[in-house]
Amino acid sequence: MRHIISPNDLSLSELDALLNLAEDIIKDPDKYSDACHRKRLATLFYEPSTRTRLSFEAAMLNLGGTVIGFSSAESSSAAKGESIADTIRVVSHYADICVIRHPKEGAPYVASLHSKIPVINAGDGGHNHPTQTFTDLLTIKNLKGRFENLTVGFCGDLKFGRTVHSLLEALSRYPNIRFVLISPDELRIPAYIKEKILDPNNVPYEEVRSLEAAIPDLDILYMTRVQRERFFNEEDYIRLKDTYILNSKKMALAKEDMLVLHPLPRVNEISYEVDDDPRAVYFQQAKFGVYVRMALIMMLLRECEGRSLC
Ligand code: NCD
Repeated sequence: MRHIISPNDLSLSELDALLNLAEDIIKDPDKYSDACHRKRLATLFYEPSTRTRLSFEAAMLNLGGTVIGFSSAESSSAAKGESIADTIRVVSHYADICVIRHPKEGAPYVASLHSKIPVINAGDGGHNHPTQTFTDLLTIKNLKGRFENLTVGFCGDLKFGRTVHSLLEALSRYPNIRFVLISPDELRIPAYIKEKILDPNNVPYEEVRSLEAAIPDLDILYMTRVQRERFFNEEDYIRLKDTYILNSKKMALAKEDMLVLHPLPRVNEISYEVDDDPRAVYFQQAKFGVYVRMALIMMLLRECEGRSLC
């Protein structure tokens, strides 16, 4: 049984197949409107979500399937003290595939150990968010045309930002990729990402503080919000939350074909004036999320039927 807990749970060739399938869906969505007839997706969300949950639901409905689920821990039996292991044992009888978001790192992995259906991690604490990464990769493939020979800047909360951790892991597999990690000292990427992902893959990276100084070199700028819910102390959050604000003045320093991505939600870190810049692609990125999730659901269910993933 295949589960998607981290982005590299798909091999490079499986990832390629996923993105190609997503692009085929973009070309002719009607061709897939019955692909998951009589199949059911369960969405178990123990943390708030707009895009991830609704795009998964839209994806399953677009494929002719159905959806059940809950959108907060308070409305599930977690509020009564049920373990995730027990919840997934039960949900395995109600659905064919399941998506889990949880504030605790590793919770979807624990669920996968007790599950009879594929589990997809939709964000576990400050750890990983593989389907956001697939969305980001489809955006880059579609709008930039390549993953290699890119200088990618990550800016904001690199410590708690799970979308950053997953995208760094996925992009580290491509040749000639270089990262510029832009953050205040308190929000630098965790040591384990350097030790387990960047160093073993010999990926060049630098850690800097100034967005203005870094932006002229970038092919992609991945902006993130400061993850308030992961802070222990509100004062630190308030002190750090507006460290970076991308505005038209800073965009004027960037390459003409640099892309600005953001997993959303945006709080203050991108001024509204940037939205009209053709290089700002974060709303297009959210649209790509539906297609890549359609492709992922199809591939995982296909594998359950004993067919190969790609
Ligand atoms: C992200 C998340 O939940 O990690 N959002 C998303 O899924 N699109 C990023 C965030 O919340 O800042």
